[in-house]
Amino acid sequence: MEQKRIGVIGGDGIGPEVVAEAIKVLKTAAGSDAFAFTQLPWSAEHYLQTGVTIADGEFDRWRENFDAIFLGALGDPRIPDMRHGRDILLGARMELDLFINLRPVKLLHDSLTPLKGRHPGDIEYVIFRENTEGLYVGMGGQLRKGTKHEVATSAMIATYRGTERIVRAAFDHAVQHGLSRVCLAIKHNAIPHAHGLWNRVFQQVRAEYPNIESSQLYADVAAMELVRDPTRFDVLVTSNLLGDILSDLAAQTVGGLGIAPSGNIHPGQVSLFEPVHGSAPDIAGQGKANPLAAILTGAMMARHLGYGDDADRIETAVQQVIDNGETTPDLGGTSSTMGAGDAVCRRL
Ligand code: NAI
Ligand code: MG
Repeated sequence: MEQKRIGVIGGDGIGPEVVAEAIKVLKTAAGSDAFAFTQLPWSAEHYLQTGVTIADGEFDRWRENFDAIFLGALGDPRIPDMRHGRDILLGARMELDLFINLRPVKLLHDSLTPLKGRHPGDIEYVIFRENTEGLYVGMGGQLRKGTKHEVATSAMIATYRGTERIVRAAFDHAVQHGLSRVCLAIKHNAIPHAHGLWNRVFQQVRAEYPNIESSQLYADVAAMELVRDPTRFDVLVTSNLLGDILSDLAAQTVGGLGIAPSGNIHPGQVSLFEPVHGSAPDIAGQGKANPLAAILTGAMMARHLGYGDDADRIETAVQQVIDNGETTPDLGGTSSTMGAGDAVCRRL
């Protein structure tokens, strides 16, 4: 296999600590030649020292030089408005048109779920969150700001093209992975224009996939169902705002931030992979950060780049480490960040 080129942004807080463990695990699983890692400086520290959040033309360089970007986390109390995070992360999502936010939800161990009586195998689905439109495009404005007569608007954007490609990606994923069910979660009852378009696009696209069982839930009902009966989901596709919320709810049903991976993907183009958690300034530099989210994110990236067998082996190793309690304190163990990473490597 051709060597894959990875741009690495450790970022802030625990970001660099967990990324180091993920890289170690990737090298152990796939060999040191499978991936070429290039460290990139973009972080709060870099911004404070240089005034530059991300260099002009950087996203074009990523397109030319990398197969994927691996990001730890961004966020620093010294930059309360998160300017650098917006420029780097939202910049990448928009500039690289990373329209799929892929959030796998998989229970690895009984002890990780707050849902009574659920076991591995009961909770195993993926969420396809639209990542470039919806309410997160920043369109809108304020009138008479700061007065009691203030008016504020935020526009929810849905385009035919943007909706069709995420819905189709969800169905394609089901076909490629032998999954039988795709569920749409939106609110077209309350948001008739933007989500009415989603509803119509879903009806059109589902007709092209007669072998996939498709269904539709109002997003609020979907939130309840993710808790009541997660076994009914294989692929859940939804809008940007609803996906943000539903995917965090879903992540908590399988263990929460310490183990939740994600990808920001444009199929066939440079994509960005990151653990769901932030920079956790409260535990940064103390060796307490759980590296499993970053490690599972690494596995997800490896799978995306054609290293599916290595990704499977990493996930199995992580499962064994959890079985054996060799985890960081957030999952009840006594390992350090590095100790948990080493434990995964030993299993490999
Ligand atoms: P956070 O995810 O950084 O932390 C929330 C809580 O979970 C903290 O108590 C933290 O110690 C714990 N935690 C998070 N990841 C952990 C890990 N791997 N192992 C053990 N414990 C972990 O969210 P918070 O505190 O709201 O935000 C902190 C900073 O991160 C802020 O600047 C925020 O803007 C940024 N952030 C960045 C994200 C990103 O880069 N995608 C996502 C979320 C927040
Ligand atoms: Mg979120």
